[in-house]
Amino acid sequence: MKKTQPIGIFDSGIGGLTVAKAISALLPNETLMYFGDTIHMPYGERSAEQILFYAVNITEFLIQKGAKIIVIACNSASSVAYQFLKKKYEGQIDVIGVISPVVDYITAHDFKKVGIIGTKATIASKNYETLLHQQKPAQKVCSMATPLLAPMIEEGYFNNSISQTIINSYLSNWRFKNVDAMVLACTHYPLIKKEILRFYHKHVEVIDTTEIVAQAVKSSLANQKLMMPSKKGKDHFYVSRYTDSFEKTTKIFYGKLVVIEEVPFEKIF
Ligand code: DGL
Repeated sequence: MKKTQPIGIFDSGIGGLTVAKAISALLPNETLMYFGDTIHMPYGERSAEQILFYAVNITEFLIQKGAKIIVIACNSASSVAYQFLKKKYEGQIDVIGVISPVVDYITAHDFKKVGIIGTKATIASKNYETLLHQQKPAQKVCSMATPLLAPMIEEGYFNNSISQTIINSYLSNWRFKNVDAMVLACTHYPLIKKEILRFYHKHVEVIDTTEIVAQAVKSSLANQKLMMPSKKGKDHFYVSRYTDSFEKTTKIFYGKLVVIEEVPFEKIF
């Protein structure tokens, strides 16, 4: 493995660009190679078997393209594929999911009751709860699927009265009474962090997973002595189905427009 190799990142679509953005901010010298499985999105509505199949094939694609580390920049995919991929590639390439670093963060803090919002696939997997209770059995935790939020954000509905009404309605659910931390367990949700903070009048810590995951990537590269000392490579953004609107939406998630390339289906699946 060489330092000059890119960081391989994947998601069901473009939501994982929020993770890519955090990685690029923390590790500006690294080259990113991003894959958005836009033909199969949303993963949040798919079965665990389907998501696992996509995740394995995309990981193989990224490894063949020279990735030095794999980042599963999707909560739905991390929920069902992280443990499998971590084991499969043990000793070959490190795999970072979005859930374990966040669980480590929560266990290192003293939260009384933690709320989790995410897609149906993420919440149904109960992965956050299972990992949290393995590390801290007494930790109070409650979770709820909020499936309207990702499509709402993708359609550009955030920071407006409609999005605030939907967010308020979800967060008012009885389950979330007295939470002192709320995990944004979906890669789209950093875009509505302000509205969630507004709902809680800033009394609740809203845990944005992207920066925590970027830190985990940095630690892994540092431990393996794989960090780049200066920027040399060109970033690549691949999708399994190209549309103009995806390219336009990248600005919302990544902070700037990126050129996306379509990869022929048979090269991956
Ligand atoms: N990226 C997905 C996640 O973090 C949300 C979008 C989807 O359902 O595909 O769970």
